[in-house]
Amino acid sequence: MIFYEPGQHKEHGFSHDPFKAFVSPRPIGWIGSIDDQGRTNLAPYSFFNAMASNPPQVVFGTGSRPDGSKKDSQLNIEQTGQFTLSIVGHALKDDMNASSAALPHGESEFETAGIEGAASRLVKPLWVAKAPIAFECVYRQTIEMECWDASHKNYMLIGTVIGIHVSEDVVVDGKADVTKWQPVSRLGYYDYATVTEVFEMFRPEGAPRPT
Ligand SMILES: Cc1cc2nc3c(=O)[nH]c(=O)nc-3n(C[C@H](O)[C@H](O)[C@H](O)COP(=O)(O)O)c2cc1C
Repeated sequence: MIFYEPGQHKEHGFSHDPFKAFVSPRPIGWIGSIDDQGRTNLAPYSFFNAMASNPPQVVFGTGSRPDGSKKDSQLNIEQTGQFTLSIVGHALKDDMNASSAALPHGESEFETAGIEGAASRLVKPLWVAKAPIAFECVYRQTIEMECWDASHKNYMLIGTVIGIHVSEDVVVDGKADVTKWQPVSRLGYYDYATVTEVFEMFRPEGAPRPT
């Protein structure tokens, strides 16, 4: 077995830091936000997940820009207290990637990447009109995390989902069928994976059924 202490040395022998490959697949939260002047923004974040369902709560992790300033999504969300989170189906993978371009603050990835936005019902930011599922969220808090690099910062933002849009196309027999939208996930390096198959597994007898 290889053992290494992250950050202590590079004796693990990997050509690139493999940490993100180890924690994979990671879903991609495609985050829509708006600044206090009403300018829209869209960017993908794969340090993303749901952390509770009652009420539904999501988290995402954001690093700072190379100059140590906050990325637009974080700036906007902390400013306005709202965001949307669109789910990336396989058909949207290239749009999602295009929206990760680092644009100057105030320039919209919806416009530059030609991505159609849809109006939210309960919050101001747009969501991705072609997304199979999208959440409308209110921001709750930011936790600043550790960072080895003094010129850089790491943050985790937490939000509560207050509205959910679902395309009828992905509903089969009253359930959301992930094979209909085939979620794209991030692996390590520049690798991605798509969910195309599902298997079912029940919990041991006596354990509560999944809700
Ligand atoms: C698939 C994918 C996942 C990404 N995940 C993250 C992430 O978890 N955290 C992060 O800080 N940047 C992540 N990025 C990079 C941001 O999308 C990129 O820095 C973007 O310009 C940020 O936009 P913003 O300033 O409009 O928020 C990711 C990029 C891609 C393509």
